[in-house]
Amino acid sequence: MIVNFTLNGRARTVDVEPALLVSDMLRENLNLTGTHVGCDTSQCGACVVLFNGDAVKSCTLLAPMLDGGTLLTVEGLAGKGGSNQLHPMQQAFHQNHGLQCGFCTPGMLMTAMAMVGKNPAPTEAEVRHGLEGNICRCTGYQNIVTSIIAGAAAMNAPAIGD
Ligand code: FES
Ligand code: FES
Repeated sequence: MIVNFTLNGRARTVDVEPALLVSDMLRENLNLTGTHVGCDTSQCGACVVLFNGDAVKSCTLLAPMLDGGTLLTVEGLAGKGGSNQLHPMQQAFHQNHGLQCGFCTPGMLMTAMAMVGKNPAPTEAEVRHGLEGNICRCTGYQNIVTSIIAGAAAMNAPAIGD
């Protein structure tokens, strides 16, 4: 099937099998291996991407369902304006030690992006609730929560020169 969608700000057309999972399409067909697959059964959250602004587990989404939509993966976060700058949410994870092995991090980042998109200043309790679908096997949750609160604040801060 031919599927047309926007991926990380670029129009894409891909030819896929109807039953191809978006997680497999990203990793195998498009070589975007930032989206991780931990369970393939909708439990771990490592594969979360933003689809039309919502956090979705890409191992539960079929590629043809993307048609006409907008997909953002972790590869689409850094590099605003052609730079190689980390996104403020990535920077916050870096500064607050929000990762250990990093396996869960892409999913945590994309869940955080969806969270902040709907609630620009989430409380600690709201962040913890929002992360219920994401598992960190290193159990570094406290620093992940701290990172997301800091990342939200950085995303809301006026840019220098504003
Ligand atoms: Fe999709 Fe675990 S790989 S939820
Ligand atoms: Fe290792 Fe979360 S940092 S799984």
